Amino acid sequence: MMAPTLKPHPKVAAGEGPLGIMLPGLGAVATTFIAGVMAIRRNLAKPIGSLTQLQTIRLGARSENRSPRIREFLPLADLEDLRFAAWDLHGENALQVARRSRVLESSMIDTLAPALERITPYKAVFSNEYVRMLKGDHVKQGTNKRELAEALRADIRDFKQREGLSRVVVLWTGSTEVFRKPSEVHRSVSAFEAAMDKSDPEISPAMLYAWAAIKEGCPYANGAPNLALETPALTQLAIDEGVPIAGKDFKTGQTLIKTVLAPMLKIRMLGLTGWFSTNILGNRDGEVLLDPDSFKTKEESKLDVLKTILQPDMYPDLYKDIHHMVRINYYPPRGDAKEGWDNIDLFGWMGYPMQLKVNFLARDSILAAPLVLDLVLLLDLARRSGLSGAQDWLSFYFKTPQSSQTGVPAEDDAFIQHRALKNMMRWIGGEKPLTHMDFDS
Ligand SMILES: NC(=O)c1ccc[n+]([C@@H]2O[C@H](COP(=O)([O-])OP(=O)(O)OC[C@H]3O[C@@H](n4cnc5c(N)ncnc54)[C@H](O)[C@@H]3O)[C@@H](O)[C@H]2O)c1
Repeated sequence: MMAPTLKPHPKVAAGEGPLGIMLPGLGAVATTFIAGVMAIRRNLAKPIGSLTQLQTIRLGARSENRSPRIREFLPLADLEDLRFAAWDLHGENALQVARRSRVLESSMIDTLAPALERITPYKAVFSNEYVRMLKGDHVKQGTNKRELAEALRADIRDFKQREGLSRVVVLWTGSTEVFRKPSEVHRSVSAFEAAMDKSDPEISPAMLYAWAAIKEGCPYANGAPNLALETPALTQLAIDEGVPIAGKDFKTGQTLIKTVLAPMLKIRMLGLTGWFSTNILGNRDGEVLLDPDSFKTKEESKLDVLKTILQPDMYPDLYKDIHHMVRINYYPPRGDAKEGWDNIDLFGWMGYPMQLKVNFLARDSILAAPLVLDLVLLLDLARRSGLSGAQDWLSFYFKTPQSSQTGVPAEDDAFIQHRALKNMMRWIGGEKPLTHMDFDS
């Protein structure tokens, strides 16, 4: 059998000038990310949690001793060259939001205050039908949804012109919208655009941001579980416009643990009867998830991973009847400091039961911020490398990764995702993938 041939390495265009980042949703995650980059630039903090900034990448055989940092190996944008903008339905600037979100210490916020204060959001495209728990006074008006999306495109052009940018990446850090399934209006680009003209209720604000960004040639990522990029219309539009996209829903806390522990059970052929996950959290994200329809969007995103990793159809003796439950409880005293409990009922040799408990005292936005940074830098690199459509290699960052192949589910196992991510980086950088076989060890 012949070894599969690798596609020729891409020519990576140079990243001219600064890189713009636009965030629909200037909340806890967005401001923690922006403040973090500002603090790192001033040497007040380290980019903990960011692969692009801290992780090394082995190149060639182990004996070659080549393991540069990812940021030394790939031509990524420099943190000094990032510029920020956002949209929100509240007119508060990033300083006010950072103070209210109570994620970062006040002394750090005070140090960064003048720079944070300068970031004021553009008016949002917002609908209460999609996020019921919030009310906004900083919202665009238009005669139909096409006009609203065109106004978002104008904002992107305004930001580019204001900051002298040739490249912008857009990443959704807005609230979780209510649960929606794809319908006829999402079937094709023409159906989607006709539905925008008619202000069809199936077209959400999140979809309008994605449409506007892709039309402006901006790579787009979705940090929340809302339906948007994975619709056939928006995926096709991204391919037509030569734009890379990635989603959805940052993999930060409990799902990260799940996609690390479930592979452990599977590689040792240990069985599972149940997995009960519960959380308390008290930030605004938690408040939005009080609406059962927004919670359903989140729940669907969290539930799928066990099935795709454990493959009950292939291993019925081990995984056919798993009781998988996920609960999120809004509990204001905790703010952004989420606490999660996992109870895992597993079984071993001859079916003897065992239990595993995980208690994670996490910090939501602290876990999410480095993912925003990596995604922005890698999507910009993908665009300069000529990649378009759904980027499977970025699955590592998401709870519900989008596959580029219809009918083929994306990979959920964190270890496989990580290997795929690194191999794709090697390919972009002109190096051979690592198979971890004797040939390349
Ligand atoms: N932090 C994590 O660990 C994590 C993990 C996975 C996903 N997420 C998702 O990331 C998103 C952001 O989380 P957060 O903690 O920053 O929430 P947040 O409530 O602090 O911020 C969300 C912001 O989005 C704004 N918004 C809502 N709809 C908008 C619209 N149509 N246009 C513009 N702005 C809009 C809200 O006004 C709010 O300021 C949420 O959807 C959350 O579910 C977070």
